[in-house]
Amino acid sequence: MEMTGSREVVLVVDVVRPEEKMLWHSLSALNLKPKILNVNQVPLKMTECPGEIALIRPVSMFKAVYAAAALEAGGCRCINSSFSILYAGDKILSLTTLMRHGLPVVESVIAMHPQAALQVLLSQKKPVIDKPPIGSWGRMVSLVKDSETAKMVVEHREAIPASQARIHIIQEYIDTGREDIRCFVVAGECLGCVKRIASDIEWRANVALGGRVEPLGEGVEELCELAIRAAGALKAFYAAVDILKPKGASTVLINEINGVPEFKAFQKATGIDVARALAEKVFEEFR
Ligand SMILES: Nc1ncnc2c1ncn2[C@@H]1O[C@H](COP(=O)(O)OP(=O)(O)O)[C@@H](O)[C@H]1O
Ligand SMILES: [Mg+2]
Repeated sequence: MEMTGSREVVLVVDVVRPEEKMLWHSLSALNLKPKILNVNQVPLKMTECPGEIALIRPVSMFKAVYAAAALEAGGCRCINSSFSILYAGDKILSLTTLMRHGLPVVESVIAMHPQAALQVLLSQKKPVIDKPPIGSWGRMVSLVKDSETAKMVVEHREAIPASQARIHIIQEYIDTGREDIRCFVVAGECLGCVKRIASDIEWRANVALGGRVEPLGEGVEELCELAIRAAGALKAFYAAVDILKPKGASTVLINEINGVPEFKAFQKATGIDVARALAEKVFEEFR
């Protein structure tokens, strides 16, 4: 790309989290002149892009996908692209894409009707996991220990208006000791990995649910290699790749990939400045 005089980066947001503030500072420090575009306040035309590169950060997955798509049509280079955000944001699309690339993922069955979901949930060895294809912060990710809970999960999901929430991804429960691993990839390089440990009253390791983050000592290289391949499969400029390591097993499984990741806790636990690393790689895109 030609070096231009302006080098303006559009920072696309809906709700401004600490991550977006950190990104704003890191972009500014490199003189990339970030311009905030709040999609909750400004309508998007499909014919214009108010900068050259757009960093897509809405919390709402669909707002992120649609903002990226509209700005791409307007001529922006979006980081991440609408494709990456859509495919990473939807667990069915990402798990199947990762599988097609030969990467190890948590084995899953997709059920699109309550009867189909019940058939799988009731016949599978318990505990079993049920989650919708779209969601974050652990929301609606359910640990089903018996038939009664299975019926209740299906019944409650049926009452949700959003049609995607009535689709079920059903998975084996991977016993990791209530931990998972998160690796950060930026522009094909792995910044590092952390361990997330669920709080005492949770089985899900999400930071949003009180999960504690610790630096990961051993095995980072292998995990990083897997994370780089996962980000590549989703064509993500940057991504957080979440990995489950079954207790006692030597192999690992990719659980999900995040195309608009939060990184405050990762940054605090590792001292790795994700915002700066991302801003630097964005800067290089102007050369
Ligand atoms: N199949 C599984 N086996 C064991 N733990 C799981 C499984 N799926 C999810 N979890 C736990 O639940 C958390 C949230 O699930 P995840 O699929 O990542 O949804 P979200 O997108 O909401 O974070 C994970 O970080 C992990 O701790
Ligand atoms: Mg997750």
